[in-house]
Amino acid sequence: MNLWAGRFDKPLSADADAFNESLSFDKKLYRADITASIAHATMLGKCSIIGEDEANTIVKGLNGILNDIEEHKLEIVGAEDIHSFVENELVKRIGQVGKKLHTARSRNDQVATDMRIYVRESTKKAKALLVELLNTLYNLAYRSINFVMPGFTHLRKAQPINCAQYFNAYSEMFLRDLERFDESEKRVNVMPLGSAALAGTSYPIDREITKNLLGFAEISQNSLDAVSDRDFIAEYIFCASLTMAHLSRLCEDTILYTSDEFGFWVIPDEYSTGSSIMPQKKNPDLPELVRGKTGRVYGHLMGILTMMKGLPLAYNKDYQEDKEAFFDAENTLFSCLAIYTALLNNIKLNQNAMFDAAGKGFSTATDIADYLAKKGVPFRDAHAITGKIVRYCITEKKDFLSLTLDEFKAVSDVFEKDILGCITVRSSAEARNSVGGSSLKAARAGLASIRRRLKKY
Ligand code: ARG
Repeated sequence: MNLWAGRFDKPLSADADAFNESLSFDKKLYRADITASIAHATMLGKCSIIGEDEANTIVKGLNGILNDIEEHKLEIVGAEDIHSFVENELVKRIGQVGKKLHTARSRNDQVATDMRIYVRESTKKAKALLVELLNTLYNLAYRSINFVMPGFTHLRKAQPINCAQYFNAYSEMFLRDLERFDESEKRVNVMPLGSAALAGTSYPIDREITKNLLGFAEISQNSLDAVSDRDFIAEYIFCASLTMAHLSRLCEDTILYTSDEFGFWVIPDEYSTGSSIMPQKKNPDLPELVRGKTGRVYGHLMGILTMMKGLPLAYNKDYQEDKEAFFDAENTLFSCLAIYTALLNNIKLNQNAMFDAAGKGFSTATDIADYLAKKGVPFRDAHAITGKIVRYCITEKKDFLSLTLDEFKAVSDVFEKDILGCITVRSSAEARNSVGGSSLKAARAGLASIRRRLKKY
């Protein structure tokens, strides 16, 4: 029987019931729901809204339900939603007194509280997974600090870079994600319980008691807003979306860098897949899947924002739609973070392939222009002179390192012998010693800074 059946002559039809129910997915909230109910009952007892002994009986009953669910002795079925399930089960176990649990409470403040407890946990888990990924990236950067690789713009070789700087770039992105989740936690950690249906309650409740029991940092300040605020869910999914965007970029790099054409990294067999028809294939299915799942998380963000749009104050049943979106978004985020950390922990770096590639495509052209500019040639002219050298090399099928000083001098007499020391990939990466740049010193400083910021978590 539904909790609200008293006003109706006839029961809800089976199809309407199936459409309306949320138990099949909100059963995930059982722990949050029971924990919040225990706090609520305790508070009702302390405030003499119900008897202390009644409160104790209710708390004992709720603990029994929680235990039985955790030990798989009680299956969560046969009710409209998790709130109804727990209350029905409580009344089944302790009788009439169980019916007092819902005093001074509505499912509206109850579900908002449950979701906040759940999202708070989920935020902690997202942070922990991000820390693991960041540790893995840190180790990769540390291991590869003496490697040079090509840096790309427009996916064309641009300038040689330090390999650690490359991994540090992703660490910067994921550190921002970590901070973003961390900051969002303070907006999640506000307790709506005590707002009741929408207008608050006429009972002499003490919201400080429930707040402290549930470990919330603050109490919501407007009951209308509290029961209809799902910003924290949109915000979580936004944080997840941006994390997925960063993962997806890393996936794209992984797919490119592990191809035969690049050959910079190798994904070990344990994290690669094959083809059912082409026996030679080793496919990057995992990065492709993570890249693909990014769209799914973005979709949930759009879904939540659209669901929230234009809803009249206060609670509306539309909010029930927050759950499947949230659960799928968190699940997708967690599985992607975990698999990518595992994959990166096992990836092999091909130092020679990266080094060789870094020297191709006239990647040190900027160094030639900078050489001239540092000798007083205006940079725009230095750029044009270097362009001529590139053209000369293309025609003569040469690269910079195979040019003689005379060939340099033929284009500009500013060149002297020291030009030959400025055009290796290593000298090029080392030259970029500005803060955040690709020199060894800058990459080391980048690592130290990442470690410092990561320590907080
Ligand atoms: N399943 C509902 C939800 O997720 C619980 C709250 C129901 N409240 C109501 N007034 N019908 O939002």
